[in-house]
Amino acid sequence: MKNVKLGVNIDHIATLRNARGEKNPDTVEAARVVYTSGGDMVVMHLRQDRRHIQDSDVERVRHEVKGLIHLEMAATPEMEKIALRVRPDSVCLVPEGPKELTTQGGMKLDKKAPELEKIIKNLSKAGIEVSVFTDPEPGAIRAAHNMGADAIELCTSKYSEAWGKKLQAKELERLQLAGYLVKELEMELHAGHGLDYYNVVPVARIEGMDCLNIGFSIISRGVFVGLKSAVAEMKRLIQ
Ligand code: PXP
Repeated sequence: MKNVKLGVNIDHIATLRNARGEKNPDTVEAARVVYTSGGDMVVMHLRQDRRHIQDSDVERVRHEVKGLIHLEMAATPEMEKIALRVRPDSVCLVPEGPKELTTQGGMKLDKKAPELEKIIKNLSKAGIEVSVFTDPEPGAIRAAHNMGADAIELCTSKYSEAWGKKLQAKELERLQLAGYLVKELEMELHAGHGLDYYNVVPVARIEGMDCLNIGFSIISRGVFVGLKSAVAEMKRLIQ
């Protein structure tokens, strides 16, 4: 198995920070921890409603920490402008709905999408690697390839939500087959969404997998891995 890169999504560090409207927990500090603990890149989703990551998070992490930055964003002129200014190392274009709690599946690419194609070309021209978030469906993968994307991030939500071994095996097979196609098209293969400590290994072992982008499970686990020492440290201080 080759070395699969890990992109760590820090959106929910910002969710927690925003809950009190304070400076902590700081996304810059989170980014430093990601890089010093073996994470290969920091991932942030700058949503149009700015519900977690703010423009200043992307700017500060870019300028204050050394390391690869991967920006997830909707394919809109506003986001394109921000990406061209901040210059993340890579961008993933994702669909975004106003009321969704998190990204709901991959981009629907069954129709011609000249605006999307233009954004892909402009970002590529600026030296930013572009991936498109798609369901594990040949049509969407081929469409993203034809539009000039460098990479496909396969949406693993259905696999992650699959209940029972049989259904999970079926969803894993869809990801594997989609992965073959991505590699046949000589694109980078990424995957993510809903991956956790129990379901990640079979996805990491998909042939040709280059990178997994994982957020919620890592930040959630981080709370419990870290809470023990945080409580002990406070107790020590007040003794
Ligand atoms: N990949 C994409 C394209 C996403 O939109 C998200 C969620 O922001 C993730 C990966 C990470 O998903 P999760 O937080 O469930 O690990």
